[in-house]
Amino acid sequence: MTKNIVVIEGDGIGPEVTRQSVKVLNSIAEQFGHEFNYSYHLMGADAIDKTGNPLPDETIEASLNSDAILFGAIGHPKYDNDPTAKVRPEQGLLKLRKSLQLFANIRPVSTYPALHHLSPLKTKNIEDVDFIIYRELTGGIYFGKKETDADGNRALDDCTYTREEIERIAHLAFKQAQLRRKKLTLVDKANVLETSRLWRKVVKEIAAQYSDVELDFLFVDNAAMQIILNPKQFDVVLTENMFGDIISDEASVISGSLGLLPSASVGKGSALFEPIHGSYPQAAGKDIANPLGSILSAAMMLDHFGLHKEAELVRTAVNWTLQNGFVTKDIDPVNFYFTSTIGELISDFVGNKFPGDINKANIELRKSTII
Ligand code: IPM
Ligand code: MN
Repeated sequence: MTKNIVVIEGDGIGPEVTRQSVKVLNSIAEQFGHEFNYSYHLMGADAIDKTGNPLPDETIEASLNSDAILFGAIGHPKYDNDPTAKVRPEQGLLKLRKSLQLFANIRPVSTYPALHHLSPLKTKNIEDVDFIIYRELTGGIYFGKKETDADGNRALDDCTYTREEIERIAHLAFKQAQLRRKKLTLVDKANVLETSRLWRKVVKEIAAQYSDVELDFLFVDNAAMQIILNPKQFDVVLTENMFGDIISDEASVISGSLGLLPSASVGKGSALFEPIHGSYPQAAGKDIANPLGSILSAAMMLDHFGLHKEAELVRTAVNWTLQNGFVTKDIDPVNFYFTSTIGELISDFVGNKFPGDINKANIELRKSTII
């Protein structure tokens, strides 16, 4: 299989984690006889520095013509505390989502026994947690009319949804539920918001086409609580853009490391794959960031290509590193391995060099000496 992949390394730790995914994808390509061609493009603070524009046209063009996009991270502290900044890195990502019509952001949340001790929640509450969030990504308050009055004392962000915007993601979420435990939870604020009432109405109507799926509803404030109190209850969670942004970050800490969670943004054409962590500027260039979020995003990309065996092998390799303690500093601050070493270990595993001839002594050499 031949695939053309646009790589947007982005800001902060984006480049170093994305490079590990490319290593792993190359190893998969070699092992299974595929051809992955990469072209590198700019977005975010990196793009502003180099071109003045957070999303150059040529990045949009290349992305539209690609089979998939592998993206690192976006954001730089120099823009975060400056409300007067006219150009912001995040505008690049929002525009790319809109330009490619990436209307569904998919975030699986699962836990790993090797990391249970890092979770802020009790182990008994997180064992076997396995749910997936479908967040609407191109509508709602993020993309509504925005205004600030001339005197600077009143501002407005409009929140609009149309039936069509709700229907298309709802179908994806119901189909996913059918492949899983057949439960879908719509998270909204239908006791207050008109848009939420539309979501409820449309999703209820669509539910009739998926009679094997049990549908329930939660107000977002309650959902925020339930995700912490009893995350096992969820299977597929469907929600609008802003609520999804918030509850997916909340859900991401359950596993014990934000660095591990992948995501896919899908729409009408080419899909985008990115770890859910941010640009983590404090760690940039130090080779200490966790590349697993990016590598697992690459696995989602393989699934998206229909390469399920290959995706499963990447996930097996990731589990193997975790089980053997080959982990980055966020997971073990004393006995940790570098970002690039984890990338090599996983690509070696995928390339069938492990575990038969696993040479722990060799791997030990690549361990950090920083204490
Ligand atoms: C995310 C991020 C973005 C969002 C930012 C960077 C615009 O937080 O992907 O969740 O709010 O959607
Ligand atoms: Mn977010």
